Amino acid sequence: MAHYYFFLCILFTFSLSFYGISAANHQVTNFAEKTPGGIRFTKEIGIPFTKTLMGTINNYIWTTILQQSDPADRKPVPTVNIYIVDFKGAEAITWGDNINVSAVYLLGYQGNLKWEFTSLLYHEMTHVFQWNGEGKAPTGLVEGVADYTILKAKYFPPAFAKPGTGNKWDQGYDFTARFLEYCDGITPGFVAKLNKKMRKTFDVKFFQELTGKPLDTLWKNYKAKYGNIKHGDEITEFVN
Ligand SMILES: *[C@@H]1O[C@H](CO)[C@@H](O)[C@H](O)[C@H]1NC(C)=O
Ligand SMILES: [Zn+2]
Repeated sequence: MAHYYFFLCILFTFSLSFYGISAANHQVTNFAEKTPGGIRFTKEIGIPFTKTLMGTINNYIWTTILQQSDPADRKPVPTVNIYIVDFKGAEAITWGDNINVSAVYLLGYQGNLKWEFTSLLYHEMTHVFQWNGEGKAPTGLVEGVADYTILKAKYFPPAFAKPGTGNKWDQGYDFTARFLEYCDGITPGFVAKLNKKMRKTFDVKFFQELTGKPLDTLWKNYKAKYGNIKHGDEITEFVN
């Protein structure tokens, strides 16, 4: 089965310090308002809804996912911009503190567009606020943390990986999100603590420091817990 997300996520490391700026502003611009996708955005989602949603998600990421009650722990983000843009090839592109959402993608989506857009923003806004070890963290882990947010927020689609699936801890997206969920079961607040360690660099030892077990042991135990399912998204759940 094809992977359900085809995000192209471009993360720029933002090295300037803006201590003191803690509450981010939220801006939305529809650069595609005359295209069919931009028109669908206005009709089914709209700028006011998006701004409110951004506030909700921003809070959720700070309080629940990254647990950064101390503003000094947060990534300095003065303003998050969402641009609705007429482009093809990805659902969204996150660049620095900006998220370009594809009007072409919005037009083609079949189903509840508001729900899908909300799920997309939970993922993309996580990229805006998460630490990535100044680019040293594996991409699969960075994507896994973003999908962990949609898992916890319960905005994940039916095709989202089931627990125990995947072939590698840093396979990315939903597979890594499920592994992070397991690590969180061992050490409460694991994702938040790992993110905090990833401010300047990345080391696989972070997993051991947080759980007491080396990463490869954690992955083996995770797979063993679910009966060593080999191929990720092909499994069906048992029905009584
Ligand atoms: C996002 O869209 C804006 C507005 O059209 C554009 O200027 C910018 O280059 C785009 N960014 C990326 C990374 O494509
Ligand atoms: Zn992503």
